[in-house]
Amino acid sequence: MARKPILAANWKMHKTHADALQFAQKLHYSLDRDECERADVVICGPFTSLRTLQTVIQSDKMPFELGAQNVYWEDKGAFTGEISAPMLSALDVEYVLVGHSERREIFGETDEWVRRKLDAVLAGGMTPILCVGETEAEREAGDKDAKVSRQIAAGTDGLAGDQVAGLVVAYEPIWAIGTGRTATPEDAQEMCGLIRQLLRESFGDAADGTRIQYGGSVKPGNTATLMAGADVDGCLVGGASLDPEDFAAIVRNAL
Ligand code: PGA
Repeated sequence: MARKPILAANWKMHKTHADALQFAQKLHYSLDRDECERADVVICGPFTSLRTLQTVIQSDKMPFELGAQNVYWEDKGAFTGEISAPMLSALDVEYVLVGHSERREIFGETDEWVRRKLDAVLAGGMTPILCVGETEAEREAGDKDAKVSRQIAAGTDGLAGDQVAGLVVAYEPIWAIGTGRTATPEDAQEMCGLIRQLLRESFGDAADGTRIQYGGSVKPGNTATLMAGADVDGCLVGGASLDPEDFAAIVRNAL
């Protein structure tokens, strides 16, 4: 089944709203419309940049989609500092990262929290990008498949087939994030293939629709080989997405 490539920039805690505006304009100059139409090009900015990005994407008809990096599962209430799915969808956010390893490891997000967030994103009519991946110690102990299987089960149990088909999953080995140590294309394919197989066991052919990204030190120079894996449908890009020319090269090299 032909799946549309999805390249997502995860800026993490970088860029003011003014930086975000400049980035969008530079990225727009750097990519042809045709290149953007062959992929989904998603910008996951910090909350403070989303309104600015929404405005420039719409006013200049930029072929980019807006993503957020986090969400809280309640729609509203006394949750100081949190942002809800209806707040994001009101800004035309289309994708939301859930369960990024930095949220899990630094902020203590559990599988249960990740699942509540995923459900809130779906209820808000947006697409979750469910992030999974093992630590270096887990890989060395031979536990990588068990860890990722547990995260996939917790994130997807009980979903409907069409929800699974519309889902994006990002396989991000924690040892490769921000370290310059990219997984080999074989490692990336092995784990993305495992994720699709797990989804197929639970949801049948719906698994053919799910787009699976690799993330972890993706750069313009390694994008094409990583994307060569049959089950690798895109990349989630941290550090290299901060530079619009690098991110444009990643989009181009993914096609
Ligand atoms: P990196 O981050 O590209 O800087 O390794 C990827 C991510 O955390 O999504």
